[in-house]
Amino acid sequence: MINRRQALFGFMQFVAGSSLIRADKKFSELNDPMLRLANVFDFAALAKKKLDPLAWDYLDEGSDDEVALRDSRRAFDDIIIRPHFLDHDVSKIDTSITLFGKKLDQPTYMTVTGGKNCLIANGEEEAALGAGASNSLMITNGGITSTLAKGKGPKNWWQYTTAAEFRTKNQMVNFAEKLADQGCSAISVTVDIYQVSHRERSIHNGFVRNWCQGNGIPRDAKGQLMYKPDDVLWTTGDVPAPRPFPTPTWDTIQRLREISSLPVLIKGVMTSEDTAKAVKYGMSGVIVSNHGARQLDHTGGTIEALPECVQAAGGKIPVLVDGGFRRGTDIFKAIALGATAVGVGRPYLWGMTAFGQRGVARVMDILKAELAADMGMAGVGKISEIDRSYVRMRK
Ligand SMILES: Cc1cc2nc3c(=O)[nH]c(=O)nc-3n(C[C@H](O)[C@H](O)[C@H](O)COP(=O)(O)O)c2cc1C
Repeated sequence: MINRRQALFGFMQFVAGSSLIRADKKFSELNDPMLRLANVFDFAALAKKKLDPLAWDYLDEGSDDEVALRDSRRAFDDIIIRPHFLDHDVSKIDTSITLFGKKLDQPTYMTVTGGKNCLIANGEEEAALGAGASNSLMITNGGITSTLAKGKGPKNWWQYTTAAEFRTKNQMVNFAEKLADQGCSAISVTVDIYQVSHRERSIHNGFVRNWCQGNGIPRDAKGQLMYKPDDVLWTTGDVPAPRPFPTPTWDTIQRLREISSLPVLIKGVMTSEDTAKAVKYGMSGVIVSNHGARQLDHTGGTIEALPECVQAAGGKIPVLVDGGFRRGTDIFKAIALGATAVGVGRPYLWGMTAFGQRGVARVMDILKAELAADMGMAGVGKISEIDRSYVRMRK
């Protein structure tokens, strides 16, 4: 017979010698302050400290009353994980997936974010380098050609468009051909941004959106904002002026689909109806997204919209989702609800603001590591083993 003390000692020896603690690090390995940040929220706190308050608001804000922004986090709390054990070997966790014929190390990717220069100089390149270092899929809004040419950017990247820039068939053909030549692996068409939203933190701040195309927030030696006479401030109270050209329709996207040999995805889908149309018009996938709650408010959390979109896709095309994903458990829940992959926006921007490309890579690695641990604790060793039975709704 062994007493309780001996049993506890034996258990501690087992833990110390087992892979259960392989995520721990020795004191000597923790000289790098970045490695002491425990989760992506820690990167957010540091990014907030580093940034001009106007740049932080631009990064953090949603539109109008920010109800959708709050919903995008709150909705995860209504989904409960149902672990079940002994069905699968969890001695080794594989977070990889295959999407459009390419292997991804994890189902989490870096989604498109404009205005990175408000956060850090050469933001798009910095993000691309972080994507390369963490072997992450990235959706870019362009400007990473030289980074790609140096072989340091992401190996797997998709191009963002709103399709509103195509006035002629030729423009569309040129766009599609250039991308294929550059090694792009898919086109992501954002469809929820044909009107400008009211992001009222920025409006109150007297924010000029063009600052993010330049060198960030211009301040004089006293810290006062410096405006140029022709700066255009973000305001409310005017009905949007008519655009000179009609906005894209399903026909536009279908033409792009026909012209391009690359997969085409629609980003900004929030309903079963739009998902069904995406299938009908031959799209390669949909991304369930409310633009990080920065466009139409009161759209709910994207994780709430996911199940109806998955159902409408009927397994014919992959359904991706972004909006509010911060934890391995969030990603796990989306996969259990049928998502193929999960996009993150603000988290990698927090990493980039805090530590540049290293921070981007670290945030992506943290999300992967959290998901891996969560999978093991929920009783699955592979992404394909996660199904609907691993979650239930609270209500
Ligand atoms: C600063 C910022 C800029 C963004 N710019 C774009 C954009 O230009 N095009 C687009 O389709 N989505 C844009 N998004 C939305 C993201 O692609 C994505 O839908 C959203 O950020 C996901 O939510 P998360 O930030 O909570 O992860 C932007 C988001 C942020 C935070």
